[in-house]
Amino acid sequence: MKAITLNSFGAPEEMHITEVPNPEIGENEILVRVHATALNRADLLQRQGKYPPPEGESTIMGLEMAGVVYKTGFGVSKWKEGDAVCGLLPGGGYAQLARIHEDMAWPVPQGFSMEKAVAIPEVFLTAFQAIRLLADLQQDETLLIHAGASGVGTAAIQLAKAIGARPIVTASKGKHDFCRKLGAAHAIDYKNEDFESVIYSLTNGRGADVIMDFIGGPYFQKNLNSLALEGRLVMQGFMGGPKPAAVNLAPILRKRLKLIGSTLRSRTLDYKIALAKDLYNFAWPLFESGDLKPIIDSVFDWEEIVKAHHYMEANKNIGKIILKVN
Ligand SMILES: NC(=O)c1ccc[n+]([C@@H]2O[C@H](COP(=O)([O-])OP(=O)(O)OC[C@H]3O[C@@H](n4cnc5c(N)ncnc54)[C@H](OP(=O)(O)O)[C@@H]3O)[C@@H](O)[C@H]2O)c1
Repeated sequence: MKAITLNSFGAPEEMHITEVPNPEIGENEILVRVHATALNRADLLQRQGKYPPPEGESTIMGLEMAGVVYKTGFGVSKWKEGDAVCGLLPGGGYAQLARIHEDMAWPVPQGFSMEKAVAIPEVFLTAFQAIRLLADLQQDETLLIHAGASGVGTAAIQLAKAIGARPIVTASKGKHDFCRKLGAAHAIDYKNEDFESVIYSLTNGRGADVIMDFIGGPYFQKNLNSLALEGRLVMQGFMGGPKPAAVNLAPILRKRLKLIGSTLRSRTLDYKIALAKDLYNFAWPLFESGDLKPIIDSVFDWEEIVKAHHYMEANKNIGKIILKVN
């Protein structure tokens, strides 16, 4: 098969389409002919040699796919050749063939193209995990979503709305209208406004019940300050770096805060299967009725992979950057 591989770790220009051996499938696994994959921030780090794949997994980049079942392994009961599926991968999505456990694959929602289906797995699972499992966000609670126009942010806005919570985002100004149309109650221009004081005035001094953070160090103190009593801070990314300056920890005790960190990729297969099942039960009826929408910023041909990585690095996207695999 063909796949996008690296000459060596480094710049986007190190990526090329080359011939590699087909993946081998084991018990309860399926081999999928990939029609579309998508970019994730993790791919940028993996390309630079800063985020190795988990032990034993494909070294090819790509954490999600949509395509058609090409071959089924021993014991597979859910799928047959020709079924249209999508799902989260531990790696190996930037390729013509990818292997996945049968319980990690979902049917492509009715009426969805492959490009639209592949915009679901990583960002909706990440946002769903944060909102439902890690923070247990409740109806009428306020959720502050940093990087609100990111792929994960656009999924989080919609999921928060779907459970009756109040999402507020930070994003650069040009992305505010989009976030509001998607359901954000308010958008904060983090480059020119102090999100801590805006959150306080929007919540009458209470603070946010939950914060989803992907920025890390530079936001840590302000996040602690911006949380309400018994607030929960979920940290899933460090786009601003992992190290805060001197921190005053007093708000953690005073407000009885919970600090929770997680990555999806390092979770066990059983955990991911249970999460995938919960998201399927919650979201598939909403995707098929149009109440939830995967947000696609742009679609690139996989031959344009270098351009697509530069585009993500320039922070230009709102929602997902998709790659069509030929
Ligand atoms: N832990 C997990 O399991 C998990 C899984 C998936 C993703 N993630 C993380 O989730 C985050 C979002 O991923 P994504 O693929 O959805 O991202 P994305 O679509 O590429 O969007 C990222 C956006 O974040 C904003 N941003 C970038 N650097 C920033 C900074 N230093 N300060 C403030 N805003 C910044 C930019 O928007 P503006 O124009 O608004 O600045 C940028 O467009 C990443 O950190 C990623 O690693 C974590």
